[in-house]
Amino acid sequence: MFKINENYLKLPGSYLFSTIAKKVNAYGNENPEKKIIRLGIGDVTQPLAPAIIDALHKAVDEMGSEQGFHGYAPDLGYEFLRNTIAKKDYEARGCNIAPDEIFVSDGAKSDSGNIQEIFATDNKIAVCDPVYPVYVDTNVMAGRTGTYDINTEVWSDVIYMPCNADNNFAPELPKEIPDLIYLCFPNNPTGATITKDELQKWVDYANKNGCVIIYDAAYEAYISEENVPHSIYECEGARTCAIELHSFSKNAGFTGLRLGYTVVPKDLKSGDVMLHSLWARRHGTKYNGAPYIVQRAGEAVYSEEGRKQLKAQVDYYMNNAKYILNGLKEAGYTVSGGVNAPYIWLKTPHKMTSWQFFDYLLENANVVGTPGSGFGPNGEGYFRLTAFGTYENTVEAIERIKAL
Ligand code: MLT
Repeated sequence: MFKINENYLKLPGSYLFSTIAKKVNAYGNENPEKKIIRLGIGDVTQPLAPAIIDALHKAVDEMGSEQGFHGYAPDLGYEFLRNTIAKKDYEARGCNIAPDEIFVSDGAKSDSGNIQEIFATDNKIAVCDPVYPVYVDTNVMAGRTGTYDINTEVWSDVIYMPCNADNNFAPELPKEIPDLIYLCFPNNPTGATITKDELQKWVDYANKNGCVIIYDAAYEAYISEENVPHSIYECEGARTCAIELHSFSKNAGFTGLRLGYTVVPKDLKSGDVMLHSLWARRHGTKYNGAPYIVQRAGEAVYSEEGRKQLKAQVDYYMNNAKYILNGLKEAGYTVSGGVNAPYIWLKTPHKMTSWQFFDYLLENANVVGTPGSGFGPNGEGYFRLTAFGTYENTVEAIERIKAL
């Protein structure tokens, strides 16, 4: 008789963004006349930049010719893309990352969920609270998190690092030493960042205590301030303690195309075992690579034209962020984020819970956001809005919120 992975039964509810989608669809079906504006999930709305479309067309045509056809992609990804990433994302920033330390994938969500597989089940993880739910849920599935307390909404074997207004939404170094530390800066969901000096302290802590930092840099393209690191490898010593995850979704609009990459430096070792070898083994065994045409599109992200066009796209979303920030401030809300990140984090008014505010906003303004409590107990009383909508919808949503 087969047995299921019972860890799945420990997961409370459905995946946050699936729950929200179900609620919004139900409301939409009951109220078909209402124009719902979705500023919930961080999904982009601007079309792919022309340089990317050109690269896609060209690659599609290549695939239709005998000489240009490509079958399975190489395990780590095509060299043309890995060389470009190594040069433009790392060498240009003074970071020492070789092309063969870069693993191209179908996105940072799957990598952030899968990376835990190369670690023992009895490793203890530390996460920010609030946190992108994928980091915790995938460790629950792996049986690494102990038992769930329905009242406090915490797992017994997870170290939570509270991020709240008192610490400017930046976690403090944990007193209990974890094995794996998940960090995401600029942060999803709070939109907060830390400086390079602050990140250096995490790298030093990890090296001193034998921890691995899993650093999610999905939002680095939104950094607008000086001294905010774009990569953890800007910090000294990060090659011996950090894995970095990158996405093409937020900087280049690939949420529907799917592309990302993960860096595992060869200096990152457990005894004499390189984590690089384990991840390479996993990648080779379980994955057949992002499509050739998508990897060519990824290469175009770094071309001169591509860069210019994508900078304009990031500016477009950050203009939305500014509009949301200012509009909510005018309306008397307490808000943060939105300066180095496309997320605005606001305190719910009148002591409403996050889900109460979600319902209130949906029903009275027909605007969808994400309840802070969905990201962890310290998110309770907060709410996230994304700047990834169209400008017109963003303006309308904020005017509706102001009019409440
Ligand atoms: C979010 O809304 O937090 C993100 O879009 C989810 C994701 O990137 O998977």
